Formats: sequence, structure tokens, C-alpha cells
Amino acid sequence: MVKVKTVYICNSCAYETPKWAGKCPECGSWNSFEETEIRPSQQQKGASREHNSPRLLSEGTDTPDIRIVSGINEFDRVLGGGVFPGSVSLIAGDPGIGKSTLLLQVSGEFVKKNKKVLYVSAEESFRQIRGRAKRLELIDFPLPLLVETELEEILFQIEQQDPDVVIIDSIQAVFSQNVSGAPGNVSQIRECSSRLFRTAKEKGWSLFLVGHITKEGSIAGPKILEHMVDVVIYFEGDSLYQYRILRSLKNRYGPTHELGLFLMDQEGLKEVQNPSQLFISHTEEIRTGASITCSFEGSRPILVEVQALVSRTNYGIPQRTVSGFDQKKLALILAILEKHCGLNFSFYDVFIKIAGGLRIDDPGIDLSIAAAIHSSLVNQPLEAKAVFIGEIGLNGDVRPVSQMDRRIEEAVKLGFNRVFMPEINLHKIKKIGVDQIHSIKTISALINQKNSHQRTRVSETL
Ligand SMILES: Nc1ncnc2c1ncn2[C@@H]1O[C@H](COP(=O)(O)OP(=O)(O)O)[C@@H](O)[C@H]1O
Ligand SMILES: [Mg+2]
Repeated sequence: MVKVKTVYICNSCAYETPKWAGKCPECGSWNSFEETEIRPSQQQKGASREHNSPRLLSEGTDTPDIRIVSGINEFDRVLGGGVFPGSVSLIAGDPGIGKSTLLLQVSGEFVKKNKKVLYVSAEESFRQIRGRAKRLELIDFPLPLLVETELEEILFQIEQQDPDVVIIDSIQAVFSQNVSGAPGNVSQIRECSSRLFRTAKEKGWSLFLVGHITKEGSIAGPKILEHMVDVVIYFEGDSLYQYRILRSLKNRYGPTHELGLFLMDQEGLKEVQNPSQLFISHTEEIRTGASITCSFEGSRPILVEVQALVSRTNYGIPQRTVSGFDQKKLALILAILEKHCGLNFSFYDVFIKIAGGLRIDDPGIDLSIAAAIHSSLVNQPLEAKAVFIGEIGLNGDVRPVSQMDRRIEEAVKLGFNRVFMPEINLHKIKKIGVDQIHSIKTISALINQKNSHQRTRVSETL
């Protein structure tokens, strides 16, 4: 008789313990343990031990970095120049964001390039996916589709087909006979992903796992899922906007924080050729509280518009609302403006938004945020065709940012010809068709050089 072992596994970090506990000693989550039966698998029982020994690095031979390229540039670039053969990637995103659409399109491109692909759907029926393929004009290509939820059968079928690329849509819908519990619970995800991972590595398949996201925005399932895979990619977007962003968070074979941009329409996802044009609406018009900056995302500069609204507060505690970057950054910039520029926001609500719904972590947008806030506060538009690039230090210094010449090049390409930038970056940049470069040493130099009379007006209203 097979002896069944029972363990308790933490839902959030997959910590394993033989006894139930209220609080996970590993991650501190409360009430997160779930009882799970683990039956020893046939392979584990009968496997004889094979020994391994260390090798000298100098012994190895160089193998060329040959990638499987889909031809969809935005997708290939995020992966670091195509799919690394034998890599395991996790593509995570909200339901309905377009993960299945993207991977079906990518599969179609691989098939067109004579690669063997197997698309495993554990969520949708053959009819549904056929309908999608028809809409994406992929119906005439020989793309094998397996509709299956049981891991053992999936592994058997993949071995039969021996494809180059396998897509599992989604990992939360697959279940294994070896562990108890419904598909999607932590032990199922852990078992299914680790067995798929091991087999893919053994056989050299490139594997894509689709993962769902919880309400809190993290990948549903144990954290080890993210630690285990080679590449973690998030597919993001806002239901109000048409565009979708592919963002790499972890990549063992390429750079991280790379962005891939797509537009979703009836015929599927289309690559965005010129992202800067997407995020800045009006290059000619000058508006109060709006400033343009150039953020560096992965290997690419993207122009974005920062919008600020500073208005008199109606509440006891003034509101601070941010969309598109870290809330703490706004508190910091306001504190710097108060301390070093003599402004006072105690009686003002401040709302800041990166236009278009993009999320940015690049510190190079600080100067632009400060400029937009000041412009809204004094009710005066910023100069037309100007970009603001620079990080602001706690002492009010405008600090240098990386890749300044490429940022300026991008701005010039879109018709901007006035650049406000850190003085320290000046010696590094080649002057690339910019009419005016304003080198800014401190934030107070930027704020105070502008309209000192308006500042008086502000203090009068306080
Ligand atoms: N008939 C259609 N016409 C246009 N867009 C569609 C159609 N069907 C689905 N979509 C788009 O595709 C999205 C669903 O994509 P899907 O790949 O199924 O998402 P996911 O796999 O991430 O849940 C929908 O949110 C919608 O934007
Ligand atoms: Mg789907």
C-alpha cells in the first residue's frame, strides 16, 4: 500500500511543516497553512542515485547564443533577443489582459519559422482557441493544440511531440495526481511547475508558463515559482487604455526592466513602433501643470508627460495622490520644494499622474515632477517644447542621470528643443540639435529663476 504523507504548506511562501501553525515562521503570514497529502511518485521511488562531480570552468566549450526568434520585436527584446533554448519563462498578468492572445500569436510566428510548438490549454476549449486563432489569422498554420489539465498526460504528450517550445496556459489550471487539492492551490502549483521545469531542462524544451495575478498584484501561487523559473515577465495594462506592456522582472538570459509595448485590437496585439508618441498627447500645446520628461526603460528612452494638479484643500489634511510612480517620491519632492524653494503645500491637495497610465521607477523624472507641481501651483504653463530630465537629491541638488545623450536624442526626434538637465551631465552629452540647454544645479535654481513675482502671489494667497 502506498504510504501517504501529510504536510502543511504555507500558501504565500510554500514553507513546509509537519504540524499546523497559525503563523508562518518563514514569511510571517497568518492562517496560511494548508494540509496537503504527498504521495511519493513512481520515479522518485525507483530512481537509482546518479553521482555528479564538479568541472573546471576552463574545460567548457563556447556555445553560440542562438535564440529562437519570433520576429515580434517587442516580445523578443523583453526576453533578451529571443527565447533562450531550454529556458523556462513565466508570463503573469491579470485575467483578460491578453496573455493567451500574445502567446498564441507568438506560437503562430514560431510555426511560420518552422519551429515545433505545442500549445497546451488547461483553461479554454478547442473551439474557443480556434476562434481566437481565426481572429488572429493563424488558422491556416499547423499549430498543435492540446486541451488538457492533468500534468501527467501533458508531460506524456509533450514527450510524444518533442517540440522546441511549449506553452502551458495556465499553470494554475493544471493539476497533478501526485498531490491532493484542487488545481491552483499552492501544493499543486509547486508540484506541477517543478516537474514541468525539471523535464523541460532535461529535454531542452523552451517552456512558457502563464500565471494569474492575485488582487494584490503578485503572481498567484508560491513565491518559489518566481525563484525557480529563468524569466519572469509581467503583462500589464489598464482596461481603459488599449495598450499593453510586457515587462521583464527577472531574466537569467538578458536584461531586466525592459519594456515591450503593444496595442490590443480586434486582430490581436500590434507592436508599438514609436512609444514616445503614445505617451505624450500634445507636443505643440502648452498646458499648466504638464511637463515632459524622458524616462529610460530597459534599453530604450521613452518620452512621457507628467501631469500635476495643485489645488486648495477642502479637508483638514491635504491630499496627496499619485498614479504611475511611488507615492513616497511625491512626499519627498514636496518636502524638498518646501525646504529648498520656500514653497508651502500645507493648504494644497497635490495630484500627480503619468499620462497614459505608464508606471515609472526611473529617478530621472524627478525634475519633471517638480516642474509640473510648480507650474500648477503658480498657474503658469512651462515653456513649450521643453523636456525636464534629472534626479533631485535630498539636499536639493539636481543629480545626474544615466544615458542622457540618448534621452535627449529621443526628445529631439519628437520635436523638443529645450532641455532642462543636471549640470553634471553637461560635459558628457554631445549637442544633438537642441536649441537651448539649461543646466540646472539645484532645484531652487529651476524654481526661483522662473517667475519670482508669481511666487509672491502664491504666498499672498496662503
Ligand atoms: N472578439 C474580440 N474582439 C476584440 N478583442 C477581443 C475579442 N475577444 C477578446 N478580445 C480581447 O482579448 C482580451 C482577452 O485576451 P486573453 O488573451 O484571453 O487574455 P488572458 O489570457 O490574459 O486572460 C480581452 O480582454 C479583449 O481585450
Ligand atoms: Mg487566457
